[in-house]
Amino acid sequence: MKVSLIAALGNGRELGKDNQMLWHIKEDFLHFKKTTMGHTLLMGRKTFESIGKPLPGRKTLILTRDQSYERSECTTIHSLDEGFLLARESGEDELFIAGGADVYKQTLDFVDVMYLSFVEYTGKADAYFPEFNIKDWKEVESREYPATDKSLAWRLVKLERI
Ligand SMILES: NC(=O)c1ccc[n+]([C@@H]2O[C@H](COP(=O)([O-])OP(=O)(O)OC[C@H]3O[C@@H](n4cnc5c(N)ncnc54)[C@H](OP(=O)(O)O)[C@@H]3O)[C@@H](O)[C@H]2O)c1
Repeated sequence: MKVSLIAALGNGRELGKDNQMLWHIKEDFLHFKKTTMGHTLLMGRKTFESIGKPLPGRKTLILTRDQSYERSECTTIHSLDEGFLLARESGEDELFIAGGADVYKQTLDFVDVMYLSFVEYTGKADAYFPEFNIKDWKEVESREYPATDKSLAWRLVKLERI
């Protein structure tokens, strides 16, 4: 099973503020949907609460230390190992780490592929993508999306671990 990470980050690695996203880019949303459709998403409890519901067409694993946490149509997990095992046992071929900051930080070392959307955003945030060494990664896909009157400019990059 391949372990992939998918995230959108600003110029200073900003991810979110007050448990919300910092931008709304329709094309990036569609990229997330297309890339993850049919697969399993593993996310922290705060990211799940921010989205508010399971995303259709995907299995959702919610990571929490709260033993009583349950959400309909989702699976609660209490460790990353439990999530990896469940995904593997279900026959998943690509597990997606979907954030947030805390979960990205704990999983970065186990990830084979990263789908990163670099957004031309600089501003306040309280959740940041972890620092990583770009030299450990090979860029295998890249696409630029210029700014429009509705959206910030952004660049989609697919990275594979060297
Ligand atoms: N830009 C993006 O691509 C993107 C993507 C995702 C999220 N975000 C943003 O990121 C922010 C949320 O990130 P965050 O770092 O605050 O929270 P998070 O990573 O979504 O969730 C953290 C929670 O996950 C649980 N958890 C983490 N590690 C665990 C472990 N080893 N074992 C068991 N449970 C564990 C804990 O839940 P309990 O407290 O319930 O125990 C912890 O409070 C929001 O602003 C969101 O909008 C941005």
